[in-house]
Amino acid sequence: MTAVPPGAAAGSSPSAITTATASANTNIALIKYWGKVDEAQAIPATSSLSLTLGGTRTTTTVSFDGGDGAADSVTINGASPSAVELERVTRFLDLVRARSGVTAPATITSRASVPLAAGLASSAAGFAALAAAASRAAGMDLDGRELSRLARRGSGSATRSVFGGLVLWNAGHDDASSYAEPVACEMDLAMVVVVLSQRYKPISSTLAMRATMSSSPLFPAWVEASGRDLQVALEAVRAGDLARLGEIVEGNALGMHATMIAARPGIIYWLPQTVAALHAIRAMREEGLPVWATIDAGPNVKVLTEGARAEEVAAALRDRLTGTAVSVRRPGGGVRIEEGPCP
Ligand code: PMV
Repeated sequence: MTAVPPGAAAGSSPSAITTATASANTNIALIKYWGKVDEAQAIPATSSLSLTLGGTRTTTTVSFDGGDGAADSVTINGASPSAVELERVTRFLDLVRARSGVTAPATITSRASVPLAAGLASSAAGFAALAAAASRAAGMDLDGRELSRLARRGSGSATRSVFGGLVLWNAGHDDASSYAEPVACEMDLAMVVVVLSQRYKPISSTLAMRATMSSSPLFPAWVEASGRDLQVALEAVRAGDLARLGEIVEGNALGMHATMIAARPGIIYWLPQTVAALHAIRAMREEGLPVWATIDAGPNVKVLTEGARAEEVAAALRDRLTGTAVSVRRPGGGVRIEEGPCP
């Protein structure tokens, strides 16, 4: 983090800090979030549970320095973002400006340590890092819960990336009650990521959630089942029972996809290789490997397993699913304020 002299940012209220850098890892939901009851406030229909993954940091520097003169200037992985991405970042920074009283446009530089092609959603890490860097640069001093509430407005899954390890996002019913918190976990968990296709998702999660809620006859049942799944998952974590946790994790992800497949028209993120991977994982489980699948808004598959057996599981997946990229991810930490600017 670099302190800039007070008043250095044109048009902003004087504050000791106008530049800050922060990083955050991405996370994979074990019990999924799918559907917002309030889109403007990003209040989800259900609570969710996730694992933050190590080595997946996005690092972001925000300076309220006037931007490109009239607007925010954004660089992501060395390139200019699309108009849609730029608008999303600016809308998020407008929230920070409204709360902090800073009025200047900003310069934002962001770099992900893992390429998009690695099959890990970047918005969770991206918006958690942006929330931390922007709030800090604007002179706000937020605690973890407040930061998770702010990150929520950028991207739902970013709410959970504020914390490391196992994280619960309480759905809540308004801005104050919808926040994430860490969950104690003694288990040795890992995720093996199987990249089956590097195609971008055909429909954004925001649009797909909206369509599922408005047209899938299975949505009310999904909300009900998800509440029970979360309780079973938390009990399994407390008991250190990986098999019980794994069964509920796989069932919850399949239920989320069944619900969106039943939307009209159906939303099908799966490819033929996705189904093949699900069968391979089932066969590996019958052979005694501790493996359970989860799938997000795309065709790729993530496999929950025991940390001590993760390399063995990765090797077995490479054998069975030739031509795919398989990588092991272990639990990682939460948001961090960095000393230097984004590389
Ligand atoms: O990151 P968002 O807000 O677009 O939504 C992510 C939704 C899933 O990844 C499919 C599930 C989850 O809980 O992360």
